Amino acid sequence: MRVTSRTILLTVFLVLVFSVRAHSGISEKPQIPVEARKAAALARARAPKKPAADVASREPRDRDKIMGKNGYCIDCHREKTPGIFEEWVLSSHARLGIGCNDCHGAYQSDKDSFLHAGRFYVRTVVSPLRCGRCHQEVIKGFAKTAHAKALTNLEEMSADDPRYPLIEPYKESDFSACRACHGGRILIGEDRRPTPSTWPNSGAGRINPDKSPGNCGICHGRHRFATASARRPEACLLCHDGRMYPEGEIYARSLHGLAYRDAGNRHNLERPYFYCDATRNTAPTCALCHLNGAGVGLVTTHNPAERLARRLTHPQSPERAGQSALWSNMTAVCEQCHAGSVIKRFFSAADAELKRYQTEEVEPALARFGKLLNRKKGRKRQAILAEYADFLAKTKTYRLNLYMGHPGRTER
Ligand code: HEC
Ligand code: HEC
Ligand code: HEC
Ligand code: HEC
Ligand code: HEC
Ligand code: HEC
Ligand code: HEC
Ligand code: HEC
Repeated sequence: MRVTSRTILLTVFLVLVFSVRAHSGISEKPQIPVEARKAAALARARAPKKPAADVASREPRDRDKIMGKNGYCIDCHREKTPGIFEEWVLSSHARLGIGCNDCHGAYQSDKDSFLHAGRFYVRTVVSPLRCGRCHQEVIKGFAKTAHAKALTNLEEMSADDPRYPLIEPYKESDFSACRACHGGRILIGEDRRPTPSTWPNSGAGRINPDKSPGNCGICHGRHRFATASARRPEACLLCHDGRMYPEGEIYARSLHGLAYRDAGNRHNLERPYFYCDATRNTAPTCALCHLNGAGVGLVTTHNPAERLARRLTHPQSPERAGQSALWSNMTAVCEQCHAGSVIKRFFSAADAELKRYQTEEVEPALARFGKLLNRKKGRKRQAILAEYADFLAKTKTYRLNLYMGHPGRTER
C-alpha cells in the first residue's frame, strides 16, 4: 500500500484533534477509527521527524541516531509478531513516534546486546533505567520503593527480624521459589541473551542485566503501556493474592470491591495519562488509594509508602517515620468520597483495636514462637515453622481487615 503525504497529513491531523478532545475531557471514547490511528502511528515511525518541543526533553540523548531504525523493526515484526505490533501501535508511545528501538536498541558494548536481523544491536530486557531516560519523574526514587526492593529486602533481612523464619528455608536456593512475585537476578548467557532459568521474569524487585532493580512491566504490562492497565485491581492481584497475601481477597470482599464490580464500565480508567480521581471513578481500587493522583494535594506516586503510616504486614506493625504526614496523605484519598469526620472515627476505632490486638494477642504469641524456634531442631522445627507461617498470615489478615476491609469482619 502506498501512503501519500496527503493521507499522512490528514491522519496526523485527525489524531491531533482526537488527542486534544481526549485530554480536555470532552470525550473519553475514541472518536477516530482504530485504522486511522494505526496508519498515523505507522507513518510516524517510518518517517521520523524532529520531536515536538514539549517531548524533546524526555528523549534519550542518542535519539537522532536510533529513531530511524524503528521503521525496520516494525515492518518485519508486524508480520513476525503481530500481537506485539498491535499492542504497540495503539499505545501513546506509537502516537508520539516512539518505537521498538527506543526501548530495545543497544550498543555492541552492552553485555546483554546481540546482533539482530543482521543489522542492529538490540537487547531483550528493558530495565526501568531505560524507561527513566524519558520518564525522569517516575524513576526518581523508584529504586527505593518496596516494589523495586522486593528481592533485596529478602536478601538483607536480619536473623532477629520476626519475619525471618519465613524466609530462612529459602535462603540457600536464592529465593527461587519466591521469584514469581519478588523477582530474581537476570543472568546473561553465552549467546548474550537472558538465560532460560532467569528470564522471563515478572517479579517486582528483579535485578536487571544493567544491575538496576525493579520492573515497570509488573503493573503496566507491555506493549501498550497504558496507565489504564495499572489502575485496575487485577494488575495488583498478580502478586497481592493468596494465603500469605490477603489484600486481594480483603478488597474483593469489601464494599469497595463490590462498588468496583458494580460500576461496570463507568470507571473511566482508560483516560490516557492524566489522573484517575474520584470525579472520574467512584469505586476505589488498589491504585486509586495507594498510587493515583487526584489533582488537589495528591499527585501520582510510584511509592506506596508515601501514603502508609505503619507496616501492617509486619507482625509487630511498627510505625513509619513521618507518620502524621503519611496518614494525612491517605485520609486525603478517603475524603474524596467520604465525610472527613467519618473517616477520622473509622481510623481511630481501627487504631484502638490494633493496639489491643497487638498487645493482648500478637506479642505473647510471638514470644512463645520465638522460644520454640530457638529450642527445636529438625522435623519438629519444620512443623513449628509451618505453624508460624500460618500465624503470620492470620494476624496480617486481621490487621489489614481493620483498615481496608469490611469493618468487624476480622475473625472469619
Ligand atoms: C527481518 C525481520 C526482523 C527485523 C528487521 C527485526 N526483527 Fe526482531 N525478531 C525477528 C524475529 C523473526 C524474531 C524471533 C527470533 C527467533 O524466533 O529466533 C525477533 C526477535 C526479537 C526480539 C527477542 C529476541 C530474543 O531472543 O530474546 C527482540 C527484543 C526484537 N526482535 C527486537 C527487534 C528490534 C528492536 C528491531 C529493530 C531494531 C528488530 N527486532 C528488527 C525479526 C526481525
Ligand atoms: C516502551 C518500551 C518498549 C517499546 C516501545 C517496545 N518494547 Fe518490546 N518490550 C518492552 C519490555 C518492557 C519488554 C519485556 C522485557 C522485560 O522483561 O524487560 C519487551 C519485550 C519484547 C520482546 C520479548 C518478549 C516476547 O514476548 O517475545 C519482543 C520480541 C519485543 N519486546 C519486541 C518489540 C517490538 C517488535 C517492538 C516495536 C513494535 C517493541 N518491542 C517495542 C518494552 C518495549
Ligand atoms: C504470589 C506472589 C508472591 C510470592 C510467590 C511470594 N511473595 Fe512474599 N510478598 C508478596 C507480596 C505481595 C508482599 C507484600 C504484601 C504483604 O506482605 O502482604 C510480600 C511480602 C513478603 C515479605 C515481607 C512481609 C512484611 O511483613 O513486610 C516476606 C518476608 C516475604 N514476602 C517472603 C516470601 C518468601 C520467603 C517467598 C518464597 C517462598 C515469597 N515471599 C513468595 C508476594 C509474594
Ligand atoms: C509482581 C508482583 C507485584 C505486583 C504486580 C504488585 N505488587 Fe505491591 N508488592 C509486591 C511485593 C513483593 C511487595 C513487598 C516488598 C517488600 O516489602 O519487600 C509489595 C508491597 C506493596 C505495598 C507495601 C509498600 C510498602 O512500602 O511497604 C503496597 C501498598 C503495594 N505493594 C501495593 C500495590 C499496588 C496498589 C499494586 C497494583 C497497582 C501492586 N502493589 C502490584 C509485589 C507486587
Ligand atoms: C523515548 C522516550 C520514552 C521511553 C524510552 C519510554 N517512554 Fe513511556 N512515554 C513517553 C512519552 C513521550 C509519553 C507520552 C506522555 C507525555 O506526554 O508525557 C509516554 C507515555 C507513557 C505512559 C502513559 C501512557 C498512557 O497512555 O497513559 C506510560 C505508562 C509509559 N509511558 C510507560 C513507559 C515504560 C514502562 C517504559 C519502559 C518500558 C517507557 N514508557 C519508555 C516516552 C518514553
Ligand atoms: C505498582 C505498580 C506500578 C509500577 C511498578 C509502575 N507503575 Fe507507572 N503507574 C502506575 C499507576 C497505578 C499509574 C496511574 C496513576 C494515576 O492514575 O494517577 C501509573 C502511571 C504512570 C505514568 C503516567 C503518569 C505519570 O505520572 O507519569 C507513567 C509515565 C508511568 N506510570 C511509568 C512507569 C515507569 C517508567 C515505571 C518503572 C520505573 C512504572 N511506571 C512502574 C502503577 C505502576
Ligand atoms: C479504600 C482505599 C484502599 C483500597 C481500595 C485498598 N487499600 Fe490497601 N490499604 C489502605 C489503607 C488505609 C491501609 C493501611 C495504611 C497503613 O498501613 O498505614 C492499606 C494497607 C495496605 C497494605 C499494607 C501496607 C502496610 O505496610 O501497612 C498493602 C500491601 C495494601 N494495602 C495493598 C492493597 C492492594 C493490593 C489492594 C487492592 C487489592 C488495596 N490495598 C486496596 C487503603 C486501601
Ligand atoms: C472513590 C471513592 C471512595 C474512596 C476514595 C474511598 N471510599 Fe470507602 N466507600 C466507597 C463506596 C462506594 C462505599 C460503599 C458504600 C457507599 O456506597 O457509600 C464505601 C464504603 C466504605 C466503608 C463501609 C461503610 C459501611 O457503612 O459499612 C468504609 C468503612 C469505608 N468506605 C472507608 C474508607 C476509607 C478508610 C477510605 C480511605 C482509605 C475510603 N473508604 C476511600 C467509596 C470510596
